[in-house]
Amino acid sequence: MSLTPEKMDLPPRPELFDFHGVSMTHYFTDNWENIQNFQARPDDILIATYPKAGTTWVSYILDLLYFGETSPERQTSIPIYERVPFLDIAFPSMDTGKDLVDKLPTSPRLIKTHFPVQFVPKSFWEQNCRIIYVARNAKDNMVSFFHFDRMNKAEPEAGDWNSYFQRFLEGKMVFGSWYDHVNNWWKKKETYSNLHYMFYEDMIEDTGREIDKLCNFLGLSPSAEDKKLITGGVQFDNMKKNSMANYSTFSAMDFKVSPFMRKGKVGDWKNHFTVAQNEEFDEDYKRKMKDPTLQQLGEH
Ligand code: A3P
Repeated sequence: MSLTPEKMDLPPRPELFDFHGVSMTHYFTDNWENIQNFQARPDDILIATYPKAGTTWVSYILDLLYFGETSPERQTSIPIYERVPFLDIAFPSMDTGKDLVDKLPTSPRLIKTHFPVQFVPKSFWEQNCRIIYVARNAKDNMVSFFHFDRMNKAEPEAGDWNSYFQRFLEGKMVFGSWYDHVNNWWKKKETYSNLHYMFYEDMIEDTGREIDKLCNFLGLSPSAEDKKLITGGVQFDNMKKNSMANYSTFSAMDFKVSPFMRKGKVGDWKNHFTVAQNEEFDEDYKRKMKDPTLQQLGEH
């Protein structure tokens, strides 16, 4: 294992292909068998999202809740992608995400996935692990993903905005259709109770309230002082300037094209969608998203 995320030598951008009915790139299928055989522990916590829904934000909050007080050195020395490894990923000549999880010295292990619900290794369900799912308004999610794909050499080429817009509606994105992802994780709540489903927009509206809900789910009761420190530390501007949270050490990303911590706002889609695109999007959304809560998510 000679390479690290800080020094990567990636081949040309990967192509999308159909994998069990979901668009994927080989970085997320190369280690498939090993990942499917992953042995979860009962206290593992899985953070599941469609890419660009606020994964890093919630990962950082969880890391601070569990380890902020006991291991303050983590805050200045370990990038978030190592504290909360991305189970799905396998870059060439590097530790896979699963290797990183297996090496985590701390407990509970905080683990990130972008898998659609049907791809999650079965041991997570068998061990009744706590799972946190974060969903974000589809329009902002699309815009954020567009800029991410432009700057991340490990992603397929973004192309121009108009073609990206169509591709998103057709679900031809890495990790598949946003609509299937968000809908199917939502449905999972009906049969799996250890799932906390939350929304990026609620975090923007009141971060402290959403941290309280997370603590309730996780059975944590931080002191008022700790909670204040965490709520402040995870505000966008603070995370943006924090090199252990902002991915500036991750060499596959070209920040000259777009930063990882880009805007952190609700409604940036208004700067990207044409009127016609917005109408087409809303019609399509109504057809695909039937649940009232998820319909509301479309109204931001
Ligand atoms: P934008 O591109 O809209 O700015 P993920 O971590 O799932 O890849 O999501 C990244 C998105 O979450 C980016 O959205 C990023 O700016 C936003 N984000 C990360 N930390 C945030 C924070 N503390 N507050 C608000 N948004 C945040």
